Amino acid sequence: MDSEFERVIQNVLEKTSLSELISADVALQKRGLDFIGLCPFHQEKTPSFTVSNRRNCYHCFGCGAHGNAISYIVNKHNLPFKEALTLLATRAHVTLPKFSSKSNFDNRQNQKQQLIDIHQIATEYCYTLLKSEKNAEIARKYLIKRRVSPEMIDRFKLGYCDGSLTKYLQSTKKYSLNQLENAGLTINGTSKDRFYHRILFPIHDVQNRPIAFGGRTIEDSNSKIPKYLNSPESEIFHKGYNLYNLNSAIKFVKDTPLIVTEGYMDVISMVSHGFLQSVASLGTALTESQIEILWKYVDNPILCFDGDTAGLNASTRIAKKSLPLLKPGKTLFFCYLPNALDPDELLKANNPEIMQKYLDKSTPLVDVLWNTLIEAYDKKNIGRHQWIPEDKAALKRDIYVTVDSIKQTDIQSLYRQLFLSKFAYFCKQNNGAKIESRIKLISPTMNKQKILGQKILLGILLKNPRLLPEVDELLSQVSFTDEILAEIKDWLLNSYFSTVDTSSETFVNKCHNFLSVIGENSIKVHAAFAFDEEVTTEDMLKRWKEVWFYTTGYSILKEDLKRSSDNFKLHFSERSWQQMKALLDEADCTKNGFD
Ligand code: UTP
Ligand code: MN
Repeated sequence: MDSEFERVIQNVLEKTSLSELISADVALQKRGLDFIGLCPFHQEKTPSFTVSNRRNCYHCFGCGAHGNAISYIVNKHNLPFKEALTLLATRAHVTLPKFSSKSNFDNRQNQKQQLIDIHQIATEYCYTLLKSEKNAEIARKYLIKRRVSPEMIDRFKLGYCDGSLTKYLQSTKKYSLNQLENAGLTINGTSKDRFYHRILFPIHDVQNRPIAFGGRTIEDSNSKIPKYLNSPESEIFHKGYNLYNLNSAIKFVKDTPLIVTEGYMDVISMVSHGFLQSVASLGTALTESQIEILWKYVDNPILCFDGDTAGLNASTRIAKKSLPLLKPGKTLFFCYLPNALDPDELLKANNPEIMQKYLDKSTPLVDVLWNTLIEAYDKKNIGRHQWIPEDKAALKRDIYVTVDSIKQTDIQSLYRQLFLSKFAYFCKQNNGAKIESRIKLISPTMNKQKILGQKILLGILLKNPRLLPEVDELLSQVSFTDEILAEIKDWLLNSYFSTVDTSSETFVNKCHNFLSVIGENSIKVHAAFAFDEEVTTEDMLKRWKEVWFYTTGYSILKEDLKRSSDNFKLHFSERSWQQMKALLDEADCTKNGFD
């Protein structure tokens, strides 16, 4: 496009205060650096229309209207592009030069629709290639390997690109290179396809119009090229304002919240396992606008994170980012998946019910924030024996800083009350207390050791189900703190009691899937013997019982002791005394092993 023409447009846009312009039609209220009001493009009762002078654009979270001052005048006041520009130029005291060609304006006006048309045609073309072209065989194979069914290929209109797209759109469909570059499908100045030899994921806006693509490499071995490529920003694609599969997910949110995952493949796996309300954030950390969009449809969206440090850090950043945006009734939930698995990997184990368990266990924003506040000092304090006043004061300061970033006054004061009372309780609990007890009190992650022991207990059995007949009684006594682990235990015991053939392929496969859910690698590290075929059943059993004892022995004993001492206090009988004494002796001789 003519660069002088572009420069003048930029100049006019920069000299126009978008909020002032729009205020003539709707009342806008300042919120943070931006403005918010009722959308002038559709009927609504609660405001979802934002105007940003910083970014020189407006956006409606309700109807998806998006644009700058010129498109505002064009769409709101039905003026042709040229007249809108002239009007704004006059207003901003910018003199418009005489443009040689009128076509500048006409092009511009139709550009959006053309870009959408191009994406529509490209989607169909690449979909057909994937379905039937001979040279797409490798892509089809790849999708089979990734367990993407033909139904999902159809549903998501997945495609394959073999480098012929630009040529097809140019020669058969008569689009100009310039248009294809603007659409982002052709690399500027090269006539070459942006996406080559990749699986294509069309991205749609809420009105179901294809507006961009994501593309995944088929050969994982080639680390020189990026795994995923996305369309660049364009007149129709604004990355931070869209979510993959939102167009479809919103149809299924009646009783279920939207679930936000990280990637395209996650969404496809989720949908194929019945989580139809899943979306993905398009490769960047969730933006403020994307959070607003989620709230447009549901009160409590669930954000999924890999349960590793990176996932934890990412979730903390988003939690903080959401604070200025909070409004009554709207919040976020955080779902941490085990063993750094993403939803696709977790579901590969074919257990939608496990995914559901993790979703049900999601942590509310308020707890994520509190844990983050505490953990900063938790780390610092390792090795010290008590919380010193300076750290308590710093924690208190952080509480204020965090709470102050909440803009909505009711929510802010409720958070302040809650966190200060937690703080008071916390200080009381930690006056000179030893570090161990403090850690137990505040951080569920410190239970790790115990949970690891429980995981190993189950891991050994999943790898060696032949032990089941010997250990069913001991296993049934273990009370698992983690729901997923508890479920695996129940499944193992039920299978055993209902005399399922534990050497059948179905059973062994299911064991294998569960093993990957609880983390096969860490079991391998901590209990290598379970994978050693040379170890006899007898030895294996002995090892398992050792683990059982260390993991559970003491706590079971402690529970028994408490029961028996209660019993003694109640009856003062000889029998209850003897019972208690025996337990006390046992506790005495085992104590060293656990404390
Ligand atoms: P991940 O690297 O976590 O991959 O990227 P994934 O989604 O699990 O992919 P698979 O399962 O290996 O196919 C998460 C998301 O980040 C964006 C993509 O949107 C991807 O879905 N991404 C990732 C990029 O944009 N570029 C990259 O090079 C990698
Ligand atoms: Mn993945």
